[in-house]
Amino acid sequence: MKVLIVGSGGREHAIAWSVAKSSKVDKIYCAPGNAGISEYAECVDIGAMEFDKLVAFAKEKEIDLTVIGMDDPLVAGVVDAFEAEGLRVFGPRANAAIIEGSKAFSKDLMKKYNIPTAAYENFTSPEAALGYLETAKMPIVLKASGLALGKGVLICNTLEEAKEGVKTLMLDKQFGSAGDTIVIEEFMTGREVSVLAFCDGKTVKCMTSAQDHKRAKDGDQGLNTGGMGTFSPSPFYTKEVEEFCEKNIYQPTIDAMAKEGRPFVGVLFTGLMLTEEGPKVLEYNARFGDPEAQVVLPRMKNDIVDVFEACVDGKLDEIDLEFEDNAAVCVVLASDGYPESYEKGFEITGIEDVNAKEGYHVFHAGTKFVDGKLVTNGGRVLGVTATGQDLVEARANAYAATELVDFANKYKRNDIGKAIDEA
Ligand code: AMP
Ligand code: GLY
Repeated sequence: MKVLIVGSGGREHAIAWSVAKSSKVDKIYCAPGNAGISEYAECVDIGAMEFDKLVAFAKEKEIDLTVIGMDDPLVAGVVDAFEAEGLRVFGPRANAAIIEGSKAFSKDLMKKYNIPTAAYENFTSPEAALGYLETAKMPIVLKASGLALGKGVLICNTLEEAKEGVKTLMLDKQFGSAGDTIVIEEFMTGREVSVLAFCDGKTVKCMTSAQDHKRAKDGDQGLNTGGMGTFSPSPFYTKEVEEFCEKNIYQPTIDAMAKEGRPFVGVLFTGLMLTEEGPKVLEYNARFGDPEAQVVLPRMKNDIVDVFEACVDGKLDEIDLEFEDNAAVCVVLASDGYPESYEKGFEITGIEDVNAKEGYHVFHAGTKFVDGKLVTNGGRVLGVTATGQDLVEARANAYAATELVDFANKYKRNDIGKAIDEA
């Protein structure tokens, strides 16, 4: 089989690495890919939003299956564009990816189908939003409804902050049209868990759980980022919590989408908060998490291409998803200054020493080759994943491995997986 992967981050590297293990696959392409992905795939210089070019490429190379890693193209209808030409593609159509593309949509869906989530109101006018805030309980959470790279969420402690937030999102348009509609929701507290699930429109099969660390600095301080590190499984996602979520969240979500005429095929990512009142949905994404994929996929036993095909063919009920009885930790190595401003173009050394070890994987996020040398090319540069018998061992392995890799302005959090000690 020939497989095309669309995307260029650590998540797509993890997907490419998994696809490369499949016995069915003899050629992988990635558009646009990155330096690490080029180890398994031929990277082609087509952007993830260039649908016409992607479709033409898939036809020309007779691609058997295309896998979309990123959210933007999904929300904009890349799957529809492939299907219109009779091409096989893994991912939700635009009318289902809206579950990530519009937080207002996903909140209304949860309300209509009684799926547990924070109480909320949607607003399209700043005046109405400001009026609502006058009598609202603080702290409160403001969210740009549209895609904002995970950064359009403001947690406001006071009425003044909340009013300022409405201005930032709706008037100053810091996240562009993503802030045309905002969701104002109740502030919740609890542990966060990410659960990724394969879906074929009817059946849901969950992968092992994970937890991300979104803030830039130790102790969950600093700005929100794309994700500074992950661990899997989450010790807080107990059997009991899992059963509750299967009964009250995942299957009801997929059933609701089908009922609305928006069958969801692809990976449904549910961001959960484990509150005192039980698990509640923070958000949905319509794709693998980044860097969740970097700890979940190395633990998956199945041939990933079998699972992708079962989803596309509506036969996911025939698949038994299996995960290793171990643990994995991914520590992101970033450029100092991320997510604001940072320098790039520094040579990276030591990756081979990590990859040579059994159970270790360095996934590239922002790298490129310049004159045959591997250099930094982004805010998040690499994700260093290590497995271990348990979380404590996996974390020690991952941190030891980060010492083997070097580049000029290397920055990492030192407390990825600290929650493990509290479990
Ligand atoms: P989201 O993109 O909706 O997952 O929000 C990003 C982050 O903001 C989440 O991972 C949480 O840490 C935080 N957050 C979002 N919604 C809430 C909420 N209702 N209460 C408390 N924290 C929240
Ligand atoms: N790690 C969070 C996300 O992929 O959205």
